[in-house]
Amino acid sequence: MTKALQGVRILDFTHVQSGPTCTQLLAWFGADVIKVERAKVGDATRGQLRDIPGVDSLYFTMLNHNKRSITLDTKKRAGREVLDRLIKECDVLVENFAPGALDRMGITWEHIQSINPRMILASVKGFGPGPYEDCKVYENVAQCTGGAASTTGDEDGLPMIAGAQIGDSGTGLHLALGIVTALYQRTLTGRGQKVLAPMQDAVINLCRVKLRDQQRLERNGVLQEYPQYPDGQFGDTVPRAGNASGGGQPGSILKCKGWENDPNAYIYFIVQEAVWASICKVIGEEGWISDEAFATAAARLLHLKPIFSRIEKWTMTKTKYEAMEILNQYDIPCGPILSMKEIVADESLRRTGTIVEVEHPTRGKYLSVGNPIKLSDSPTEVVRSPLLGEHTEEILSQLGFGPQEIEGLRSEGVI
Ligand code: COA
Repeated sequence: MTKALQGVRILDFTHVQSGPTCTQLLAWFGADVIKVERAKVGDATRGQLRDIPGVDSLYFTMLNHNKRSITLDTKKRAGREVLDRLIKECDVLVENFAPGALDRMGITWEHIQSINPRMILASVKGFGPGPYEDCKVYENVAQCTGGAASTTGDEDGLPMIAGAQIGDSGTGLHLALGIVTALYQRTLTGRGQKVLAPMQDAVINLCRVKLRDQQRLERNGVLQEYPQYPDGQFGDTVPRAGNASGGGQPGSILKCKGWENDPNAYIYFIVQEAVWASICKVIGEEGWISDEAFATAAARLLHLKPIFSRIEKWTMTKTKYEAMEILNQYDIPCGPILSMKEIVADESLRRTGTIVEVEHPTRGKYLSVGNPIKLSDSPTEVVRSPLLGEHTEEILSQLGFGPQEIEGLRSEGVI
């Protein structure tokens, strides 16, 4: 079976997390991804957070599946020449170096265009043009500057970083969409273009609902679905909302049976308008169906704390899985808080390939997250990450380098 991006060649100049998540997705969709790494050093993540001495870390292996690795010192003249050959042959150059690093290597947009006008140059940077454009950025900086940290956390607690890597992996997703869109436009224009996904912008995009709330707050002075309502104070900016629902239906995290000993014995419960009567029946409060104080969504906003506390009395009599099963019979939206341990044990996630077991020559078996995007005509087969420089000779031979030239590059320390 063909793959969606079969025939697309990606010159992968990415490192750490944001860029590699993007190129890994493209590889899963069938692109030939050639990862360029410094000889003997490689992507810094190969050695970071190592759990087995001398073996590529899980950090690296889980972000670099289905790629080929070539080592190349692109600051040496001969290395630059090889890179130019790769630029000529490839469709997309993806990079997430610190601002200016590519230019310092001599790989300017003008240079790329002069040797391959069809090439797409795709970049992750911390910030777009503006006061911070020259800054280096990591995940948590993006969460802080993109509005996520100021709006996450307990209502009276510190700004909070989310476990989901919205700054890195979130930006990688944005960049991947930009790349395939530019590839599509190229089929019409024949021209390459630059694609930029700044991490701050990607996080702001993912915090869209909080900008919605900022404007609602400025207009009305309160946010009725936030825990500060009706008793607390609102300032002039969107506050942290704890675990309140971000949408139009109130929600909360509630204790379930066993919460005293299990940090994840909780369920997220949504008081959806459409199923209010069913909720009342399930928890044994039929009187609330017609009681004026609870009968309408608007009236309930004034009593969310007592409502959730009464529902919690019911959820505490069930395990999170029992509660989920009962509530789903009534179409009441809810979700158990699943630990990573529970997620990896989930057979259905194994069957869909979202959790995969991969065999690695030096690490042995490990678990990874597979492709979360499922294409019916382009199924993903997860292939282990490459060892450092594993495909150097293969790629150089494909570029037309003979054995002696390859030996010469090796002795000069270029590869
Ligand atoms: N051959 C020779 N030199 C190479 C090379 C190769 N194959 N690959 C990289 N280098 C050089 C770069 O040219 C750069 O040199 P310079 O500083 O002389 O210009 C140097 O290695 C280091 O690159 P840099 O990107 O500055 O790495 P860093 O480890 O100092 O910073 C980040 C890491 C992530 C902070 C930075 O790359 C960054 O801000 N990237 C953009 C935002 C981003 O993606 N952040 C999220 C990462 S998950």
